Amino acid sequence: MRFSFAPMEGVTSHVYRRVHAEMFPGVERYYSPFIAPNGSGRYRAGNLRDILPENNRGVDLVPQILCSRPEPFLAVARELAAMGYREVNLNAGCPSGTVVPKHKGAGLLGDLPALDALLEEIFSRCPLAVSVKTRMGLESTEEFGAILEIYNKYPLSLLIIHARDRAGMYKSRPDLAGFTRALAASKNPVCYNGSVFSGAALAAVEAAAPGLEQVMLGRGAAANPALFRQLSQGRALEAEELRAFHGQLLDAWLAQGLGERHCLARMKELWYYMIHMFPGASAKRLNKAQTLAAYRAEAEALFASGAFSAEACFREDA
Ligand SMILES: Cc1cc2nc3c(=O)[nH]c(=O)nc-3n(C[C@H](O)[C@H](O)[C@H](O)COP(=O)(O)O)c2cc1C
Repeated sequence: MRFSFAPMEGVTSHVYRRVHAEMFPGVERYYSPFIAPNGSGRYRAGNLRDILPENNRGVDLVPQILCSRPEPFLAVARELAAMGYREVNLNAGCPSGTVVPKHKGAGLLGDLPALDALLEEIFSRCPLAVSVKTRMGLESTEEFGAILEIYNKYPLSLLIIHARDRAGMYKSRPDLAGFTRALAASKNPVCYNGSVFSGAALAAVEAAAPGLEQVMLGRGAAANPALFRQLSQGRALEAEELRAFHGQLLDAWLAQGLGERHCLARMKELWYYMIHMFPGASAKRLNKAQTLAAYRAEAEALFASGAFSAEACFREDA
C-alpha cells in the first residue's frame, strides 16, 4: 500500500511536515492544508509560507486550493508552477458551514454542471497536473455515481475519495461499499481516505476494495505519527519516539520565531490527537498551561506517567 498524509489545517503545517518527514520517513506525499485565494488569486501570507519550497525541504508536497472559480485557481496554480511544483490538488471536500454555502469545498458537489464547467476550465488551462480530494456527496454518498461521471471526463492525476458525505462531517461511518463501486468505475487512479486509524481498519478497507493501491491518513497519523510505518512494516510507535517527535516539533516552532502563546496553541491543537496514545489520560493540564515552562513540565509528566500504549489509536468516539 502507498500512503499519503492528509491535509489538516492547524495541524500538518510546514513545520510539522518537515519534522515528521525527518523522523518518520516513508510517506509518499504530503498535502498542504488548503490555500483559499480571493477573486483575484491573492491569499494569506501564512499560506505562502506554508508552501514555499525552502520551507518544505525533504517533503514531497502537493499544495491544495479551495475555490469555486477557475481564475483564482489558475492564478495560484501558475505561481505554484513557477515555484517548481508539478501537481496541485482541488479541495472538493471541506464540510465547513462557512465554506459550503459559497459553493466551495464539498459545496462544489451541490451543482454538478458548475463543477463540470470549473474542471473544464482548469483542465484546459492549468500548467500542472491536477488531483482532486472529494467527498462522496452533500447529503448522501449515493450522489457519488453522478459526481464520478463528471470526474471521469477529466485526466485527474489522482482522485482522493473521503468516503463520507458532507452531512457526515468527520463522524459518519465511511461508505466502503460505495467507495468500492467508485474504485471500479473510476477512470482515474483512486486513493482511499477516511478513518484508517489502525491495522484492523486498513484490513477492512483492503478486504472491501481489493486492488486499492493508495490510502491517505489524517487523524490517525496526527495521533500516531508512526502509523505509516506500523501499517507497512509492522513496527509500532514507541513512547520515546513520540517524546522525541514532540520535543523536536516544539523546538522547530520556536526556531521558526513563533511567540510562546502561538507556539503553545499549535502544540495544544496537536494534543487533541496525540492524547489518544495515552488511554485513560487527559490533556486537560497540558491545555491549561499558560507558559512554555509549565507546558514542558506537563508534557514531561505525561510521558513519564506510563500511560502511553503502542496499541492505542485515534478514536472518533473518545
Ligand atoms: C482539523 C482538520 C483540518 C482539516 N483540514 C483539511 C484541509 O485543509 N484540506 C482538506 O482537504 N481536508 C482537510 N481535513 C480533512 C482530512 O484531510 C481528512 O480528509 C479527514 O480527516 C478524514 O481522514 P481521517 O479519517 O484519516 O482523518 C481536515 C480535517 C481535520 C480534522
